[in-house]
Amino acid sequence: LVPSRVHPGEFYALPQSPQLFKQLLMVSGFEKYIQIVKCFRDEDLRADRQPEFTQIDIEMSFVTKEHILNMVEELVQKIFKDTLNMDVKRPFQRMTFTEGMEVYGSDKPDLRYDLKMVDVTEAMRGVEFQVFKKALEDGGKVKLINAKKGGSLSRKDIDQLEAAAKVYGARGLAWIKVNADGLQSPIVKFFTDAQMKHVLELAGAEVGDLILFGAGRKDIVNASMGQVRIQLGKALNLYRKEDFHFSFLIDAPLFEKDHDTGALKSTHHPFTMPLIKDIKELDGDLENVMSDSYDLVINGNEIGGGSIRIHKPELQARIFQLLGISDEEAELKFGFLVSALKYGAPPHGGLAFGLDRLCMILLGLDSLRDCIAFPKTQRASCLMSEAPSAVSEDQLAELSLKVHQVKV
Ligand code: AMO
Ligand code: AMP
Repeated sequence: LVPSRVHPGEFYALPQSPQLFKQLLMVSGFEKYIQIVKCFRDEDLRADRQPEFTQIDIEMSFVTKEHILNMVEELVQKIFKDTLNMDVKRPFQRMTFTEGMEVYGSDKPDLRYDLKMVDVTEAMRGVEFQVFKKALEDGGKVKLINAKKGGSLSRKDIDQLEAAAKVYGARGLAWIKVNADGLQSPIVKFFTDAQMKHVLELAGAEVGDLILFGAGRKDIVNASMGQVRIQLGKALNLYRKEDFHFSFLIDAPLFEKDHDTGALKSTHHPFTMPLIKDIKELDGDLENVMSDSYDLVINGNEIGGGSIRIHKPELQARIFQLLGISDEEAELKFGFLVSALKYGAPPHGGLAFGLDRLCMILLGLDSLRDCIAFPKTQRASCLMSEAPSAVSEDQLAELSLKVHQVKV
């Protein structure tokens, strides 16, 4: 928020993205809009996130997902040719968001290497290992990753993998080493011979492999095993740093439920179009409604994201209603968009590339901080200008502001 000097007590909001503006331009009759634009997000910082970053922001009318993904492929091809003199093959691999989560434990899987998760929940029925039993009783999942040739990893390496899983909420990381002279594992004793044979078959186990297990709530198992997969990719040298893999993750769920409150919220934003085939499900199980959305993923990084938008006011009203946004609130917050749709909006959609992330990938860097001039630190401060910092009473007075510090 930026305080206004001219309008005391009022604020501007810096844009997280110019999404609604570009939609309005489509409604007003522009067929295409492309802008290189600064965005501001007050998020916790990570290696791939800065509070101020740049998007190549695109919107088009009378298009479907196919038009947009084609355009993105062409643009990426040209960018890689012009900058790295590299020939990128099309079409890019496509995968649903659900497959990404279930099989790779990520909505932006690094597909330079394989390492799939195998769901072995059913095969664990009857196994006397308390951790797996509890996961099954609670309606959770048990999944494994067979780290091919991972038998070379030491106990210390496995402990590090377990520590990575725990960051994502896992309670542990059970494992089996398939050695030439038999199985080595803290959990083999809980399996009958037949149960163990079945699991090894499901894993496709061979001598030299390391099989890792996650058990518990589905989302925790996916996220933590996804992290284990990333660590294994590094530890076992499963890819070359200079290789590139391009994919689209499509059809993300339209809604997600807050785990603590149970409240329904949009996975992306309330203006995302549901898949046509799923619109009827709006009266049924909302978790089965997927959206016409897509992310561009390169080497495990989300480089771009977008969607087809809702262009009919009735559908938009229905989505607001499902999200518990009242007519008054919708009018107050998004009235300009809703009334624009009433004039008859063309079908439209778009996407935004993260320009900084794209540069990071092209330069082979691991952190955005290495390709942005004067980046913010992990603690969101600028070391050069020492922002953020306190300001004088005079400056505050000029902006009609008073600082009330709350202890945290
Ligand atoms: P989204 O939120 O996916 O989509 O953002 C688009 C792309 O911007 C980049 N990005 C970031 N880069 C650096 N630091 C950040 N904090 C950061 N946050 C996002 C990512 C991401 O893929 N309005 C939609 C786009 C659309 O639907 O047209 C949007 O902003 O590379
Ligand atoms: P414990 O019986 O707690 O000593 O655990 C035995 C093995 O199971 C250890 O290797 C733990 O890391 C592993 N383990 C514990 N909890 C889980 C879990 N939720 N998912 C997968 N493995 C686990």
